[in-house]
Amino acid sequence: MPPISDAQRPAPNAKDRRLLAVARGVEQWFKASQRALPWRAAYDPYQIWISEVMLQQTRMEVVVDRHFHRFLERFPDVATLAHSSQSEVLAAWSGLGYYRRARMLREGARHLMRHHEGRLPRDIEALRAVPGIGRYTAGAIASIAFDERAAIVDGNVARVIARLEQIEDPFGSAVFTRQTWALAARLVGAARSPRNLNQGLMELGALFCTPRAPRCTSCPLQDHCHGRASGEAERLPVRRAPAETRALKIDLFVVQSADGSVLMEAATGPLMAGMYHLPQTPGLFQSAGASLPPGPRLGRFRHTITNRRIQFNVLASEPENVADGPGDFFWVDPKRLAAVPHPSYVRKALDIAGLL
Ligand code: ADE
Repeated sequence: MPPISDAQRPAPNAKDRRLLAVARGVEQWFKASQRALPWRAAYDPYQIWISEVMLQQTRMEVVVDRHFHRFLERFPDVATLAHSSQSEVLAAWSGLGYYRRARMLREGARHLMRHHEGRLPRDIEALRAVPGIGRYTAGAIASIAFDERAAIVDGNVARVIARLEQIEDPFGSAVFTRQTWALAARLVGAARSPRNLNQGLMELGALFCTPRAPRCTSCPLQDHCHGRASGEAERLPVRRAPAETRALKIDLFVVQSADGSVLMEAATGPLMAGMYHLPQTPGLFQSAGASLPPGPRLGRFRHTITNRRIQFNVLASEPENVADGPGDFFWVDPKRLAAVPHPSYVRKALDIAGLL
């Protein structure tokens, strides 16, 4: 088939023109203004993978200044990483936190040795099959390392797109996620270089389209941005209202047997099922309700569990009052508390009671 000449190509409509202008704007700006990051020297796929995983929960300066080079010196390639022990990898990761990332990198490297001769594949589905590589990381490796037309949305890109399109749905909602990924896909489809477009969107989010005080007057997208046009850019993306915290007062009963064991109760309700609690007035879970007369108060403390702010009163009570109570009660030696699953307030209460 003869190639389509520009004259034969259907004229882009206004929406397509805007998309093209945004893609070009991002790419040109990135080429002129990008930061010199270490993995941008060679775009080696292994280095891109490591950098993207490090950057998922760690700030750019920390990665660049301290960890990236050190990790690569210790593990210069997939084979070295795959053949190292988990504790060696964890030790090299120290200071970066979120150690699951390090364990998964090693798992991923072992998968690459087994299935891809120690190389990262360029195919997005093959990338997603690597342990630890999800939708974002697969798109980042495919586009940044291999210049494949794969979309990516991280926090920075989501913010840029939410403002560009004035998306009012809450950040992280299903609609927001669908819309941002859809626009990222259309933009990368319109790009000359997916590598430059995707990095440009991230870089723009990091440098200009910042959460507070965005620098709209310097932004290459200012003429195309609906958020800026309506003066609403800084307000976006909309954050979901945090769940309201409830204040509660709960009496905890510390009941000791003659041999020093403490009465505990297995929770059944939806919250903390399977955990062992101290008997209590209803609040955290539905206590089976042995009749426990409050004895002397041993102390009190505040504690927060998810969205509940709790004032716990720690009360002594007498063992004989428990005998006929219904429910799942157990006598637990406080010295062996670690052997039963329990929420952290239990330890605080037993500490106050002087039993630990
Ligand atoms: N944040 C995460 N990955 C990045 C990248 N490749 N460039 C800029 N910022 C990033």
